[in-house]
Amino acid sequence: MNILVVGGEGYIGSVLVKYLLDHKINVTSIDSLIYNQKQNIKTYVSDKNYKFLNIDIRSKEISNIDFSIYDKIILLAGLVGDPITKKYPHLSNIINEDSIINLIKSIKKYKEHHIIFISTCSNYGLINEDIYASEKHVLNPLSLYAKSKVKIENYLLNNPNINSTILRFATAFGLSERMRFDLTLNEFTKDLYLDTELVVYDPDTWRPYCHVMDFARLILLVSKSPIDVVNKEVYNAGSDSNNYTKRDVINAIQKQLNKNINIKFLEKGNDPRNYKVDFNKVKTKLGFNTSFTLIDGINEIINYVENKKDIANFTENKFGNYFIDNDK
Ligand SMILES: NC(=O)c1ccc[n+]([C@@H]2O[C@H](COP(=O)([O-])OP(=O)(O)OC[C@H]3O[C@@H](n4cnc5c(N)ncnc54)[C@H](O)[C@@H]3O)[C@@H](O)[C@H]2O)c1
Repeated sequence: MNILVVGGEGYIGSVLVKYLLDHKINVTSIDSLIYNQKQNIKTYVSDKNYKFLNIDIRSKEISNIDFSIYDKIILLAGLVGDPITKKYPHLSNIINEDSIINLIKSIKKYKEHHIIFISTCSNYGLINEDIYASEKHVLNPLSLYAKSKVKIENYLLNNPNINSTILRFATAFGLSERMRFDLTLNEFTKDLYLDTELVVYDPDTWRPYCHVMDFARLILLVSKSPIDVVNKEVYNAGSDSNNYTKRDVINAIQKQLNKNINIKFLEKGNDPRNYKVDFNKVKTKLGFNTSFTLIDGINEIINYVENKKDIANFTENKFGNYFIDNDK
């Protein structure tokens, strides 16, 4: 199988690319390395089944690519997260909407294509009632980031000539060769381990979580599923048992670290999201179960930080989506 991963050198992309290569799949990764990530230090660069194309999806080069050689095209690229899209709203619109739509238009010219678009459970936004959002639940995107995801979802679903599957990912956690410590579990675990003062806004808001490796497993599962089963389908990606409040996450970390840490809990932060998600469809229709728990992720991060004593000195940008260099 030939798979093209667009955004293959990001946090999820790096784990996915390695996972696919480990399964003897030919992988081409396209990425503009927008955070100046070091792609050439990845453990898989010398794999003979791996090819890297340093292409920006905003560029004209996209229309010259022969997409017919790929059995599956995974769309991960973009400005990811509420803070970075809020910081660069114009760039966000260009990358997350215009360029993704142009890319889809180039791909759909090839009849046998199948696009797997990675969306987000953030699309559910704010759910006050005690219900778990299934794929049919009304979308209520609150941020520019989620609004762009919903636009692309609608474009894919309403265009009859596009073969696509939409995966609405829970919030990711776990280790990656392009690490992000701007994700809740990763950030909280690192900061509590290092005794960094932690301020947690709206601790009782709910969110589903999922390990990056489970996302890689699901993408391969969807890639191997018959197209008539997954075409034009939307799946929430995660598991019911991994719906937690931020306070649950903090309590679990404290338990693993076995220390009582002083945390400042505040209300009414600038992120009003609160949603529990129903993952029944992906489980029953595709037989997908997650294999990593929150505790697995916490222990993984603790181990990582323990073995990297200089972590506090690392530049922030290397570890998350904080800012973009002017020339990008
Ligand atoms: N991380 C999460 O918790 C999470 C949750 C839900 C959905 N997702 C989705 O998963 C995908 C990957 O997220 P991630 O956490 O790996 O983020 P990431 O920022 O680490 O990865 C995004 C990648 O896209 C690349 N990129 C950005 N702009 C580009 C451009 N113009 N051309 C080419 N490449 C470009 C970046 O260099 C980066 O490698 C995104 O689509 C995101 O919306 C992530």
